[in-house]
Amino acid sequence: MAAGSSFGEGEPALLLDDKGRKYLLRLRSTGTFQYHRGSLAHADIIGRPEGTRFVSSKGAPLIGVRPRLADYILKMRRGPQVVYPKDLGPILVYADIRPGATVVEAGTGSGAVTMALVRAVGLTGRVISCDSREDHAGRGRTNIKRYFGSIPEHLDLRVGDVREIVAEVEHDRLVLDLAEPWQVIPAAAGTLRTGGLVAAYVPTVPQVDKIHSTLASSDRFVDVETFEILLRTWHVAGRSVRPDHGMVGHTGFVTTARCVAPPEDTIVHEESMHSYTARNAGG
Ligand SMILES: C[S@@+](CC[C@H](N)C(=O)[O-])C[C@H]1O[C@@H](n2cnc3c(N)ncnc32)[C@H](O)[C@@H]1O
Repeated sequence: MAAGSSFGEGEPALLLDDKGRKYLLRLRSTGTFQYHRGSLAHADIIGRPEGTRFVSSKGAPLIGVRPRLADYILKMRRGPQVVYPKDLGPILVYADIRPGATVVEAGTGSGAVTMALVRAVGLTGRVISCDSREDHAGRGRTNIKRYFGSIPEHLDLRVGDVREIVAEVEHDRLVLDLAEPWQVIPAAAGTLRTGGLVAAYVPTVPQVDKIHSTLASSDRFVDVETFEILLRTWHVAGRSVRPDHGMVGHTGFVTTARCVAPPEDTIVHEESMHSYTARNAGG
């Protein structure tokens, strides 16, 4: 049997019970996990490999694993509304967040998007995440620190307005989860690298409309797409195999767009230079 790596002091652990319930804990050598079916000392978990089976003080089975990012986000202490895991994956893929990319993100909020970005860009990338509210930035910082053990070196957390930060930092990707993302687009057009992508997450249709009209009024953004993700989990137990009764009906819309060179930088083929110049001169 190949053992998973061992739990260390201070890191998050997830206990799974035999009813499908999950309990998130931060391991402390003096801590005790207590629930309706007994208790388990953290010291019994620390030093044991991930995947270890335990029995609580009242004889109930528990299994210790590391929380997936999705588990952690749903269980961590939240201040501002998080982007749910169902939307996080598509944001990473459709905004093409890749190793080595420099990403500007706002607002940090509870830190859910930030954690996903930090993992996706890897150690060769960089995430600059900001929040205009100090209390929200603090909530995010605490959640991120607890998840990674410390603030990752390639993450730069700032308190401030993203409109100022995008104007200062050259970036490959811009990820926005705030009420008025269209206000950030004009400033981003100067420092978002050509070929780069912006992704905005908003809960309502008027907000989507406003993003589209702002992107359309700029000559720097193309390939604009909007989508939402509907996730339906299933109940699978013996002969009862059916969709779950409860479903999250709506969370938010994701809009992505590409930043491209301004029209005046168009490379025109020699043979079409005459007609191109005439057309753009209004001839
Ligand atoms: C919905 S929360 C973000 C939640 C975060 N994406 C998460 O998943 O945990 C929106 C955050 O944007 C911040 N915000 C709003 N306008 C901002 C701006 N212009 N610059 C930076 N942050 C801003 C708010 O303070 C708030 O904390």
